Amino acid sequence: SQPGKWFHVKFASFYFILWLRRLKTKIMKPLPVGDLETMKPLSKHEKAFDATFFQAVSQNGFYFCGGIERRHQAKANGLFYIAVPELGLLESQKLPNTLLDSDPVSVLLNKEYGAEGISFAIAEPMKKWHVSYNGKMRLQKSPDRLLDVKLNGEWTSDLPYFLFETDISLNCLAKAIARETWTNEFFKSLKTAHQTHYEQMGYFTGTLSVGHKSYRLEMDAFRDHSFGYKRDWSLMHRYAFHMMYLQDGTRVSIGIVSQPVTTSLLEMGYVVLPNKTLQCIDSCDLLLYQHGEKGNPGKNYAFSFQANKQTYEAKIQVIYESFHYKGNNIEAKLIERFIECEVNGIKGKGISEWHYNNFKNPNQ
Ligand SMILES: *[C@@H]1O[C@H](CO)[C@@H](O)[C@H](O)[C@H]1NC(C)=O
Repeated sequence: SQPGKWFHVKFASFYFILWLRRLKTKIMKPLPVGDLETMKPLSKHEKAFDATFFQAVSQNGFYFCGGIERRHQAKANGLFYIAVPELGLLESQKLPNTLLDSDPVSVLLNKEYGAEGISFAIAEPMKKWHVSYNGKMRLQKSPDRLLDVKLNGEWTSDLPYFLFETDISLNCLAKAIARETWTNEFFKSLKTAHQTHYEQMGYFTGTLSVGHKSYRLEMDAFRDHSFGYKRDWSLMHRYAFHMMYLQDGTRVSIGIVSQPVTTSLLEMGYVVLPNKTLQCIDSCDLLLYQHGEKGNPGKNYAFSFQANKQTYEAKIQVIYESFHYKGNNIEAKLIERFIECEVNGIKGKGISEWHYNNFKNPNQ
């Protein structure tokens, strides 16, 4: 949607409503951290979900990311990628399909996201998680080769988390809502499509063995957690996320999301400064339709964003790329990219995920 002639009025009124609501949640008790981190039963909706995603990068070229989306009937959408400089990208065996059987023990104990060798288990809310992968992985360079891979370690954090509902920049949210046509239908979709989502930057330490070789890993890391009544991938049109970890300790998470039933253009993100202060991103000039609208985002591009009145210029270079499907292995195509970046002249590494609605752009 494009801003209409009432855009500024709509922006100002919605900004005010959001500001009031936020004031209210700040005065009342904030959500207890334990509550967010407890595993809840899935909702009754057939597309009920509870998803967590972890990623880590090291400045010497190791990357990994993996996630599990818990679904009904002991199913999970799970994936794992690991990049080792001397080998290239490794992919969990069933990729690009992600439909896995949940680990029966984790389903019973309800304390762990586990499926077919992937495991994320909580040790301390917002502070510590055990992360492991144990199974075969395919080498992207020679897909017939399956290697035995074991990753084991701890994700830890002393950094603030970013809860979308209370921490997203009011400017970004009010802009996104003001662009849309205000109908009853629209406000209803805002409610029913709502997902709780939070993210947290952190660290990863652990060991990785691939075949007979083993590596000690010290990495910068990230995780997120989303849950809600339903996650319907068919409603999502496109998104692009970038998580960047710079050599000076600055970290950035920036997402541009287009889900036309709610907001056709939503910018969301934050910068965590080396002194651990979190600053919201207020705007970003990456426009999805200018980047890979037909399904192939470029490997070398740039964009800029603002946080706390400072402008950041980000240059991105894709090093490895792969893709997988979600939503019954058909509704969504996700392109996973392992990147090198430079933000205001400071080099770093990162991970980027580009989503495409696979009904509109089938199998591109
Ligand atoms: C962190 O660094 C920023 C930018 O240098 C500064 O504005 C801010 O006051 C610092 N915060 C703390 C808690 O030291």
